[in-house]
Amino acid sequence: MPVITCIEDLKRIYRRRVPKMFYDYAETGSWTEQTFRENSSDFAQIRLRQRIAVDMTGRGTRSAMIGQDVAMPVALAPVGLTGMQSADGEIKAARAAEKFGVPFTLSTMSICSIEDVAAHVTKPFWFQIYTLNDDDFNRRILDRARAAGCSALVITVDLQILGQRHKDIKNGMSAPPKFTLPVLMDLATKWGWGIEMLQTKRRFFGNIVGHVEGISDPSSLSAWTAEKFDPALNWDKIKKLMDMWGGKVILKGILDPEDAEKAASAGADAIVVSNHGGRQLDGALSSIRMLPQIAAAVGGGTEVWMDGGIRSGQDVLKALALGAKGVMIGRAFVYGLGAMGEAGVTRALEVIQKELETSMALSGETQVSGLGRHNVLVPNGFLDGYS
Ligand SMILES: Cc1cc2nc3c(=O)[nH]c(=O)nc-3n(C[C@H](O)[C@H](O)[C@H](O)COP(=O)(O)O)c2cc1C
Repeated sequence: MPVITCIEDLKRIYRRRVPKMFYDYAETGSWTEQTFRENSSDFAQIRLRQRIAVDMTGRGTRSAMIGQDVAMPVALAPVGLTGMQSADGEIKAARAAEKFGVPFTLSTMSICSIEDVAAHVTKPFWFQIYTLNDDDFNRRILDRARAAGCSALVITVDLQILGQRHKDIKNGMSAPPKFTLPVLMDLATKWGWGIEMLQTKRRFFGNIVGHVEGISDPSSLSAWTAEKFDPALNWDKIKKLMDMWGGKVILKGILDPEDAEKAASAGADAIVVSNHGGRQLDGALSSIRMLPQIAAAVGGGTEVWMDGGIRSGQDVLKALALGAKGVMIGRAFVYGLGAMGEAGVTRALEVIQKELETSMALSGETQVSGLGRHNVLVPNGFLDGYS
């Protein structure tokens, strides 16, 4: 077992182990990747305020997200094709999250189906849906999520059309991969991944193939999804989807205070300040830079969370200090999953929790509820440098 001390260690192993096509699929942003890069580099600009001689005993990271107790306020974000990063990846990630005590979100575009994940965990998980223009599909998939016991719905609102990722086009990204010569040459060096993948039947989009007419050929799936995204989305349609679910709703993909206010008045239980990990509007500001003004704009009834660029517990601390009640992590858990399966996701969570807890202590805080603006030092102009 390799010694893992940070998320970067997991990323190095992940890169060696997983086919280039799927590494690139995760480790990329749209167009120039400016927003993808700045999601992380903007965290690095924020500094922590070191405090001394504060009683650090009895500290902990426990908190709550939309009323659910969590070991730390860090949820696993919905990540499509997780089951291509590691065989049965969604099941492995869901189990790791459950044992650790943090929420897991299953993407509509997952490899393992809702029912399959539900059969392998004991507690409810969250389900993510896109804003598709197919009411019949929406109703049926929400019925399935309800029947599987999902306790909250994450509606992704920043994907009416797809941002372009150059690498995916160049790699001919598909699930499962098509066996072109470059893919075969790459797979020859990724045999550990290949052996595991040959041992599972879960290699297609489990929530869709077999559940939608005309999708017998999984390779036509991307065309189907692209066709179904709703370019005419509006707030009435979002509210209709919220009503169709009827339970707790998290609106994910909000990056503007005006949209955040609308989400709050629509009755969202939480919003996620997010630019989809830099995969949609390249040139948008980083989530951490937008977080404080959005948190200020949203009233008490709606929790404000963020995602994008979190690679450490220090990043989590900074987000909480700047107004987030919780965060989601995408790539940080994918690195762990691709590197070491379920144990890798657990390791990623352990690393982040340890870093969060230690950094809190050195900042003079014992509980996440005590974190605030007083814990961080932000460069002049960082928060209001753009208008
Ligand atoms: C490989 C990959 C696939 C993703 N798939 C989805 C998805 O299916 N649904 C969704 O709402 N967001 C999706 N996202 C966005 C994540 O939920 C999250 O917003 C983003 O990863 C956060 O940034 P981070 O990876 O820097 O933590 C995906 C992100 C990545 C990296």
